[in-house]
Amino acid sequence: MCTDVFEQRNVALDQILAERRSHRVFRPEYPSEYEIHRIIHAGLLAPFAAAAVGTSTDYFRRFFVFRRGSKSLDAAIPLVKVQAERMADELAEGMKNNPGLRQKAMMLANRLEQIRKIGVVPGVGTAPFFLVVTEKRGFPPVGPQSLAHCMENMWLKATALGLGFQLVSITAQMADDPAFCTILGIEPGAWDLMGCAVGYSEDELSPSIRPPVEDVTRWLD
Ligand SMILES: Cc1cc2nc3c(=O)[nH]c(=O)nc-3n(C[C@H](O)[C@H](O)[C@H](O)COP(=O)(O)O)c2cc1C
Repeated sequence: MCTDVFEQRNVALDQILAERRSHRVFRPEYPSEYEIHRIIHAGLLAPFAAAAVGTSTDYFRRFFVFRRGSKSLDAAIPLVKVQAERMADELAEGMKNNPGLRQKAMMLANRLEQIRKIGVVPGVGTAPFFLVVTEKRGFPPVGPQSLAHCMENMWLKATALGLGFQLVSITAQMADDPAFCTILGIEPGAWDLMGCAVGYSEDELSPSIRPPVEDVTRWLD
């Protein structure tokens, strides 16, 4: 392939990488099923830990699409809310007698308290789609890392499609929740979970701002 083609591909890729942002306010219109299909396809193309899950005869990655206003999402929303409150309570209890944790976890604790106050878990019911990706737990237990690769592919694809994307990391905490897993039709505790919200963004965000490569890189002799 000639150098020009590689250059063109990299211009497009660099633009998508820079434009990938966390969108947290969504317009009400639904992206098409085809767009969601393409985002899921990008997730399927992500790497996976073959040695950890490769022996399975059943495919180890599954995708679940919740639409805003659907019965399934209406059933899931209160379960995620309860989980956020449980996390807030456990963290507050843990921080009481642990100054180290208090210092480290203050931002998360504030965030969870804010969620309790507004009664809404951002990304769960606040966008046209809430997507959950699950991966069978294997050994070594690298599901969360594997799902992160999957999510990044989906995020970049959503960006390329002009859609907003928000990671919903509390989804991981739903992996052992029997009621949430029943909605998905999976066995509780057997799968790792991650989720994201997708829709048209209300806001146009500037490209990512990061430090220069030179400031954060050390070339070793
Ligand atoms: C492991 C991980 C978990 C995250 N969880 C959430 C989340 O639950 N909700 C959210 O809105 N953003 C979440 N984010 C997004 C980050 O807050 C965001 O990527 C960061 O602030 C940089 O902003 P940018 O994505 O616009 O570049 C998460 C990111 C990572 C890497």
